[in-house]
Amino acid sequence: MLPTLPDAPIGIFDSGVGGLSVLRHIRAQLPHEHLIYFADSGFAPYGDKPEHVVTERVLAIGAFLVERGAKAIVVACNTATVAAIAALRARYPGMPIVGVEPGLKPAASASRNGVVGVLATERTLAGAKFLLLRDQIAAATGARFLLQPCHGLADQIEFGTLDSNETDALLRRFILPLLDEGADTLVLGCTHYPLVQASIERVIAAATDRPVTLIDTGEAVARQLARLLAAGGIVRSTTDVPARLDGYTSASSTALSSAFTGLLGIDPPVHEVAADGAGGMLIGQNN
Ligand code: DGL
Repeated sequence: MLPTLPDAPIGIFDSGVGGLSVLRHIRAQLPHEHLIYFADSGFAPYGDKPEHVVTERVLAIGAFLVERGAKAIVVACNTATVAAIAALRARYPGMPIVGVEPGLKPAASASRNGVVGVLATERTLAGAKFLLLRDQIAAATGARFLLQPCHGLADQIEFGTLDSNETDALLRRFILPLLDEGADTLVLGCTHYPLVQASIERVIAAATDRPVTLIDTGEAVARQLARLLAAGGIVRSTTDVPARLDGYTSASSTALSSAFTGLLGIDPPVHEVAADGAGGMLIGQNN
C-alpha cells in the first residue's frame, strides 16, 4: 500500500550526481521529508543528446518515481528542465514539479556591469525555453549574457575527478574567455558545476583581482519546493519515523554511494536499476 500523501517521498533526479548539489539544500530545508534520489548515470551526459532523447528519459524516470509513490518531483537538472519539464507536467498535471533553470534573473541583479557569463550544457543553451528566458531577462534588465557551453565538464565531475589538473584545464578554457569579455557574474547553469565551486573560485582568483559573483539556484529550488508542499498541504510533519533517503542509479551503485559519501558525507542505501535503451526501466536485483 502506498503511504498517505504527506508521508510519501519526494522524487529528485538528474542525469547523474549533479543533482546532489540540489539535494543538499532540500535536506537542509525539509529535513523531515522522505526522499528518493535517482541518478541516470547510465545515460549521462544529457547535455550532448538530442532533446527527444532527454525527454524520453525524463518521462521514464517520472514514471519510475510515481510508481514509488512520489508526491512531488524535482528535476534537479537544467538540461532536463529546459528540454522536458513541460512534457513531465503535461503527463502529471496534479503533481508539484519543480525544475532548475540557469539563474539569469538573480545574475542580472547581482551583476554590477551587466555582463554575465552562463556556464551550461550545449543542450541547455540551445533549448527554446532557455533562449526565451534569456531574451526576456535581457530585455527587462539590459544585461548581456555570454553563453558558454561546457562540453565534457559534467562528465569529468561524474567520474569523480573534482580536483584534478584536467578539470582545472577545462575550467580555465571555459571561464577565462568570459572574464576577458568583462563578465563580473557567472551562472552555474548545470547542477554538476556547484560540485566544483572551489576549483572555479581558484581559477577565477588566479586570473583576476576583480570580484566575480557565482550564481547557483539550488537553494531557491529547495525553497520553491517547500512552498509548493505547503500550498498543497502535503508537508511531512511526523518525526516519529526518521526521514529516509534512498538512492537509485541506472549505472553502478558503487559510484553513487561514493558520491553520497564524498560530496554529502552520508551513506544511504543505493539500488541499481537496469534501464533499457528504449527508455523503459527494470528494477535491479538488489532493490
Ligand atoms: N546536471 C545536468 C544539468 O544541470 C547536466 C549534465 C549532463 O550533461 O548530463 O544540466
